[in-house]
Amino acid sequence: MAPYSGERGHELLQAQAHVWNHLYHYVNSMSLKCAVELGIPDIIHNHGRPMTLSELVAALKINSSKTPYMSRLMRLLVHLGFFDVEKINGNNGVEEGYVITPPSSLLRKEATVSLSAFVLEELDSSLLTNWNFLSSWFQGNETTAFEKANGLSFLEVAAEIPEINCLFNDSMASDAQFIISIVVKEYGQVFDGLRSLVDVGGGTGAVARAIADAFPHVKCTVFDQPHVIAHVPKSTKIDVVGGNMFESIPPADALLLKSVLHGWSDNDCVKILKRCKEVIPTKEDGGKVILLETVVNGDTDDYKSMETKLCFDVMMMLASTGKEREEHVWQKIFIDAGFSDYKILPVLGLRSIIEVYP
Ligand SMILES: C[S@@+](CC[C@H](N)C(=O)[O-])C[C@H]1O[C@@H](n2cnc3c(N)ncnc32)[C@H](O)[C@@H]1O
Repeated sequence: MAPYSGERGHELLQAQAHVWNHLYHYVNSMSLKCAVELGIPDIIHNHGRPMTLSELVAALKINSSKTPYMSRLMRLLVHLGFFDVEKINGNNGVEEGYVITPPSSLLRKEATVSLSAFVLEELDSSLLTNWNFLSSWFQGNETTAFEKANGLSFLEVAAEIPEINCLFNDSMASDAQFIISIVVKEYGQVFDGLRSLVDVGGGTGAVARAIADAFPHVKCTVFDQPHVIAHVPKSTKIDVVGGNMFESIPPADALLLKSVLHGWSDNDCVKILKRCKEVIPTKEDGGKVILLETVVNGDTDDYKSMETKLCFDVMMMLASTGKEREEHVWQKIFIDAGFSDYKILPVLGLRSIIEVYP
C-alpha cells in the first residue's frame, strides 16, 4: 500500500475533525442544559454588570474548588455564543467578566418570556434515552423509537405519567409564550376581523391567553386532551374545552394549531384538518385555519436553519409519526383535506405562519 501523500493526510485529518465536531455536538447541548439547571443566565443577568468567575462561583454557592471547572464550562458556552466576556476594573486590576447574550437572555428562568423549560424538557433523560433505540427501531416493527424504548407512544406516556405530562406542557407553554408574543406584536393582522378563535391542541393555554390579552374582542378557547387542560390556569379570559380533535372541535371563525400537525402523519393531518373545516365559516365569511409550523425550504433556508430543521425532523421521527414538511407536502395535505388555498408567511425564524382557507 502506497504511503499517504501530505494532501491525503490533510484530507483524512479534516474528515476526522468533521467526525469529532459532530460526535461532540451533544456536549454543547448538555453544557447548555447544565447552565440552565444551575440558573447561570439569571445569576449573570441579575448581577447587573460583568460577573467575574469568582463572583459567579460565589453566587452559585458551589465549592470554590469547582472554580477551574466552571471556568472551562463557561469557556465553551462563551465560544458557543451563550455568554460574552467583557473587561472590567476589579480589585485585582483589569479582570474579565461574563455577560449574557440574546440567546442566554432567552434562557433566564425568571424572564417573562423564557425558553428554559423547553431546553430542560428536550434534554430530559427520559427523552434522551430513546436515542439509544433508533437503530434497533429501524430494524424492528414498532411505530417509533420512543415506543420501542417505552412500550407506549409518547402521548400515552404523557397521559399516564403526571411528571412527564407537566414537563411536556411546561416546555410547550414556554415555546408558545415566546412565539405568540412575536405574532401578536408584529403580525396582529392575522387576527383581523375574527370574533372567535380556538387553539386546537393548545396545551395549557399560553397562546389563547396571549391572543385574548392582545385582542379582547376575540373570544378565545383552548382545546386539548382532558389530562392537559386539567392544568390550564384558571382565567376568565379564555374558555377551556377538553376533547379529541379527531372526533370534534369547538366551532370558531378561526382555528389555530401551533406545533400540532408536525406531530402527525400526512393522513392524520388530513383527518384533523377535515374536522377543522367542518367547524369554520366559509372563506368569504372569514373562516380560516392558522398554523404555526416549520416549512423546510431547501432553496432559501441557510445552512444552519436547514440543519436545525432537519434535526427537529429526526427528533419528531423519534417520538411521533410526524415530520417537518416542505411546502409541496403541506400543499397536498391542504388540498386532500378540502381546503382551496393557503398563504405562507415565513416570518417566525424557523417557523412560519400558514393561513389555510376553506
Ligand atoms: C406539541 S404539543 C403543542 C402544544 C401547543 N400547541 C404549543 O405549541 O405550545 C401538541 C398538543 O396536541 C395535543 N393533542 C394531542 N392529541 C390530541 C387530540 N387527539 N385532541 C386534542 N389535542 C391533542 C397534545 O396534548 C399537546 O398539547
